[in-house]
Amino acid sequence: MWGGRFSVKPDALMQAINVSIGFDRRLAAEDLAGSRAHAAMLAATGVITAADEAAIQRGLGLVEAELAAGSFPFRDEFEDIHMNVEQRLKELIGEPAGRLHTARSRNDQVALDVRLWVRGACDRSVEALQGLQRALLAQAETHAASLMPGFTHLQPAQPVTFGHHLMAYVEMFGRDAGRFADARRRMNVSPLGAAALAGSSIPIDPYQTAKALGFDAPAANSMDAVASRDFALEALSAASICAINLSRLAEEMVIWSTPQFGFIRLSDAFSTGSSIMPQKRNPDAAELVRAKSGRILGSLTALSMVMKGLPLTYGKDMQEDKEPLFEAFDALELALAAMTGMAADLTADTEAMAAAAGGAFATATDLADWLVRKLDLPFRQAHHITGRAVKRAEALGLSDLAALDLAELQAIEPRITPGVYEVLSPRASVESRISYGGTAPSQVRAQIQRWKDHLR
Ligand code: ARG
Repeated sequence: MWGGRFSVKPDALMQAINVSIGFDRRLAAEDLAGSRAHAAMLAATGVITAADEAAIQRGLGLVEAELAAGSFPFRDEFEDIHMNVEQRLKELIGEPAGRLHTARSRNDQVALDVRLWVRGACDRSVEALQGLQRALLAQAETHAASLMPGFTHLQPAQPVTFGHHLMAYVEMFGRDAGRFADARRRMNVSPLGAAALAGSSIPIDPYQTAKALGFDAPAANSMDAVASRDFALEALSAASICAINLSRLAEEMVIWSTPQFGFIRLSDAFSTGSSIMPQKRNPDAAELVRAKSGRILGSLTALSMVMKGLPLTYGKDMQEDKEPLFEAFDALELALAAMTGMAADLTADTEAMAAAAGGAFATATDLADWLVRKLDLPFRQAHHITGRAVKRAEALGLSDLAALDLAELQAIEPRITPGVYEVLSPRASVESRISYGGTAPSQVRAQIQRWKDHLR
């Protein structure tokens, strides 16, 4: 491509460190779309003839067919996807191929290809997240009133419903989708027309290529257009946060599916056995979702370090933007799909969860609240009295305040009446938490309805 300036062929090591076709071949579709739009613009503005454009479009069609058939010759000596396509085009259509690169550089070309790919990855992530939300919504609807212990510090805290717990993740994954949508909005400007860095002296129309490729506008600064990868970092940040959220649900599935908890059973389709221990059911898919977050965060770190301190504009360092992007979004796509499958297929052991919801003095706060409401005690005093009741129950070998006799309660606070037992069951506890966003089934159903309307 630049033979005019050089007299000796590149060293084999030069090719080894420089070649990117092994991974940027994944940008073939984006590269072709960009070239088609660019050629159409060059013809519309009279920069190339209609006949040359027709030849280029026909040639790009042949390239596309070769790619689809798996017969396109990817060659290391042509370094990257851009030069592989251009070289092949030249072989297929001859001289007009040489006009395609008018008013274009690989710098704006690669910025475009990567931007198109990341934009597509963001869109796919939003769709996958919505699929996951739908799977969780279906479970939440079934279990809007199913009791389970809610935890803080992984210690039983207050009874909640399983539906409420799942809806917390629906909220989280909704924000994850929102982050991808935000990133998309900001990245949706076209770098084409920036050429190498300074723009072009040829009378091109960057608005036309921007529009043809679904961008909102051409990039406002040609140097920024070729130098920036913050759009990729932003998408990787969104992917990282999403992966972290996924890892939390994955970890809960691991915990809930242990025989010690026994809250859920993952389907056979998403469990594995052991080659030596016949009784085992391992939650491998959940564990791998949990692990993918490490890989995805690693990609964000890798590209952050590549970009840090790079002077404007393009530097070959930026060729290293692609592998972290591909790796992160491949991992995220798989993690989201596996999580959706696990969420859709899991069965909840509602009896085990309800039994656990009543244990570990989970309704202690309800007793304290009752003392505040009925006896008008200051909350701190109510907290102290309740603490003494828990201590007494524990001494008697009980794990549930509802099992403590009235006489025992009255020995601690004589004004306690039999009515107190109405608030000490986990069912009553859950039903009473009707504050907005609370765990009362009526509130949980309202949360479900809002998301169903939103996702429709
Ligand atoms: N393969 C290169 C990349 O991925 C394309 C841009 C090369 N530009 C250049 N001036 N060498 O970044």
